[in-house]
Amino acid sequence: MSKVTVIGAGNVGATCANVLAHKDIVKEVILLDIQGDLARGKALDSWQQAPIDNYSTYLVGTDDYKDTAGSDIVVITAGIPRKPGMSRDDLIATNAKIVSSVTDSIMKHSANPIIIVVSNPLDVMTYAAHKSSGLDASKVFGMAGILDTARYRAFLATELQVSPKDIQAVLMGGHGDTMVPLPRYTTVAGIPVTELIAADTLDAIVERTKVGGGELVKLMGTSAWYAPGAAAAQMVEAIVKDENRIFPCCIKLEGQYGIDGVYVGAPVKLGKNGINQVIELKLNADEMKLLQESSEAVKSVMDVYDNLMK
Ligand code: NAI
Ligand code: 2OP
Repeated sequence: MSKVTVIGAGNVGATCANVLAHKDIVKEVILLDIQGDLARGKALDSWQQAPIDNYSTYLVGTDDYKDTAGSDIVVITAGIPRKPGMSRDDLIATNAKIVSSVTDSIMKHSANPIIIVVSNPLDVMTYAAHKSSGLDASKVFGMAGILDTARYRAFLATELQVSPKDIQAVLMGGHGDTMVPLPRYTTVAGIPVTELIAADTLDAIVERTKVGGGELVKLMGTSAWYAPGAAAAQMVEAIVKDENRIFPCCIKLEGQYGIDGVYVGAPVKLGKNGINQVIELKLNADEMKLLQESSEAVKSVMDVYDNLMK
């Protein structure tokens, strides 16, 4: 794989392109934005970083979809971000039209790309991209779980005074306040986290994780970008290197977990064909209930999207 396009050269898109270039695993990264000069400027700035940080990945900034022709992977970050007081779902009216039209334009120039969606509301924008693209669901999925687990892992690392490298976790559900962190599946260098931390402290960390995006919006007046951009780049890396990494990704469930046709986060194996396998955890009754509630919340926003696009 040699060509990755990132749509949207704002905070998340530019960070994703820059982190990806640092990985030095693809020939070129195309950064496209309706603000063409912004994309051209950020691509040029990132390319001028190459001699300093020692990578060869070439970056092109553009507002012309012709430059995206033959992309192997496309990351969609176009849209408006959250501002204080807004939920991710508040973005739907604006971002639904953007993501659908962006996907149409991508598909005119690339025959069979893998599409990673980042724009919010994430689960429904992934649904939108899947519908507009006509691609198999294994090739259209969203980034949220890597970010949400990273937040959870970072909070745990701070609390336990350990390296975040040693914390492994999985999380399910929609990318919103109904997300389902799974402490039962969290380990610290193989040790169940429940053996290392008091139950009430762990509960507080789970609750903070659920509103982790909102915490940053309050601090910065807009949503986060360093961890989100890096998370999307990590998904690209798993695909380019055909690593079969197990990551929580927003995917179309097709009967797994008793859920059919809804886009929510679940652990998958990610490799060169996109989603190679959905991992089915043996959730207990409480976890399953939370997942069902989260899925219903996403489904109601999917219905809003369907009505908007009629
Ligand atoms: P931003 O405002 O910094 O950048 C968005 C860019 O999209 C702008 O440069 C804008 O010109 C561009 N854009 C708008 N319409 C476009 C179109 N039709 N074609 C091409 N480019 C277009 O926003 P930021 O912070 O980069 O966030 C981007 C999106 O990602 C937001 O919807 C945000 O909510 C979402 N997000 C999702 C996360 C996740 O975990 N899935 C995490 C963080 C942000
Ligand atoms: C985040 O979680 C707002 O989805 C964005 O940072």
